[in-house]
Amino acid sequence: MTDLPQLLSERLARAFADVAGEPADPAVRRSDRADYQADGALSLAKKLRRPPREVAAEVLERADLDDLVANAEVAGPGFLNLTLSDTALSTLVGEMAADERLAVAQASAPERVLVDYSGPNVAKEMHVGHLRSSIIGDALVRVLEHLGHDVVRQNHIGDWGTPFGMLIEHMIDLGAGETAHELSVGDLGAFYQDARKAFDSDEGFAERARRRVVLLQSGDPETLALWRLLVDESARYFETVYERLGVRLRPEDLAGESTYNDQLAPVIDELVELGLATESEGALCAFPKGFTGRDGGPLPLILRKSDGGFGYDTTDLAALRYRVGDLKARRLVYITDLGQRLHFEMVFEVGREAGWLGPRAHAEFQGFGVVLGTDRRRLRTRAGDSIKLIDLLDEAVRRAALIVAEKASHLSAEEQADVAAAVGIGALKYADLSNDRIKDYVFDWDRMLSFDGNTAPYLQYAHARIQSVFRRGAVDRASLKGAAVRLTDPAEHALALRLGEFEGILHKAAGVVEMHRICGYLYDLATAFTAFYERCPVLRADDDATRSSRLALCDVTARVLATGLSMLGIAAPTRM
Ligand code: ARG
Repeated sequence: MTDLPQLLSERLARAFADVAGEPADPAVRRSDRADYQADGALSLAKKLRRPPREVAAEVLERADLDDLVANAEVAGPGFLNLTLSDTALSTLVGEMAADERLAVAQASAPERVLVDYSGPNVAKEMHVGHLRSSIIGDALVRVLEHLGHDVVRQNHIGDWGTPFGMLIEHMIDLGAGETAHELSVGDLGAFYQDARKAFDSDEGFAERARRRVVLLQSGDPETLALWRLLVDESARYFETVYERLGVRLRPEDLAGESTYNDQLAPVIDELVELGLATESEGALCAFPKGFTGRDGGPLPLILRKSDGGFGYDTTDLAALRYRVGDLKARRLVYITDLGQRLHFEMVFEVGREAGWLGPRAHAEFQGFGVVLGTDRRRLRTRAGDSIKLIDLLDEAVRRAALIVAEKASHLSAEEQADVAAAVGIGALKYADLSNDRIKDYVFDWDRMLSFDGNTAPYLQYAHARIQSVFRRGAVDRASLKGAAVRLTDPAEHALALRLGEFEGILHKAAGVVEMHRICGYLYDLATAFTAFYERCPVLRADDDATRSSRLALCDVTARVLATGLSMLGIAAPTRM
């Protein structure tokens, strides 16, 4: 294990427990007075009704920290200030250098984690919300897999429901060839809107559409074949978007709403049997405990509409039951816009009441905020339309190419194109991931593509700059695996501290689904590296031992940056 704050925390926890007579949180965090501070004595003192400084001193006396800490003292009202020893930090960097995985420990209790993300709708434009869900879900999946969890990805696309009557009729009018064309170039907005227009203005069309829904639901083979065409074309389009984005959703991860058609009736039967279904105004509903509307009345999930149809609620209940019962997921993470929070919390509550969720499985809703334009309104095109995802990606790469042409003119045209793609798409994803997930964020091209600040280009550039040190020095990186690390300068100490936080950050981010913690961490690391690089000569170090120690620091930093970026689904070019 190389998670420094965690190591400190565990050692201190034992001492705290001794003093408290029961487990007590040492509350370790970064500090500007020392490397870390532990604030736990303050709350413990309150509980024990003793002076906090006295409690802190007693904890310190009992704590076994000698091999980790060079200096520990009681400070202020009763903090413990802790400065790590250079020897402990050297050992840690050495361990990271020697290990393929940078000595990042796998999860101590790996589990099957199901992640429901992306979820675009067939024959409808993928919007910025689907972009966020795809990017966040992809990063989460990468981190979970890196930590040894068994991850099941589920792309719950909207591929069923009453709109398919009009969509299929519109496809018939348009012809299969033209439909395929519109869908494959991602002209989904037009396709959907034209169908809607015909439905609203042409009574004959509307009648055909209604009949088509009935045919679809009764399983008419010809109608099903037409529906399949529509779904397949859309799925192909989604794939091109994922590919451009570097989102690793595969066709086999598709499990759209229609997947559950056969399970809807059995699920409803089960809920009826459990006494969880109630007839209400002609519809069959579930009223999960603890959910009330503005009027104080209970809020329903609709199991079966009064016309006999099933909708989004029923499908998600069936999906939940299937995911726990058949797919054996132990942790289920749902990533959609925050607007769907109530829906999922109600679904989960019914799941608990039905016994699907509980000790054997738990579900989490991890919602996200809205993407705003620089005018602080929902992101739209100038004409006020919603933005086409593929246009957004094109623009990211186009803008990045201009910057790369200027900053990296020494690269060949081909290299420049690769770097532009990495920087453009990376900037777009990083801008999303680096913001607190639940907050709205402002989509700002200039900021996300800046080479300064907490951005992808800044980190990518920091990484490429370290690579150029190796090139200039003709350094064989493999030889650095066994290098003896000796820290002498405070800037080396500060850099090593950050390296020792990598493992903990990944575990934390996976647990709370907060990718911005990884971003903030990588930014701090790159900043610590810059300070180190400005103060400490590497290739021209005074002696060979210092040179190879500093090269090892460079190597580990570069690998942490590259691995961290790859966890976010972002490429780290070696030249920029
Ligand atoms: N298709 C939905 C939408 O566009 C997202 C699906 C989310 N996942 C789920 N299990 N309901 O909003």
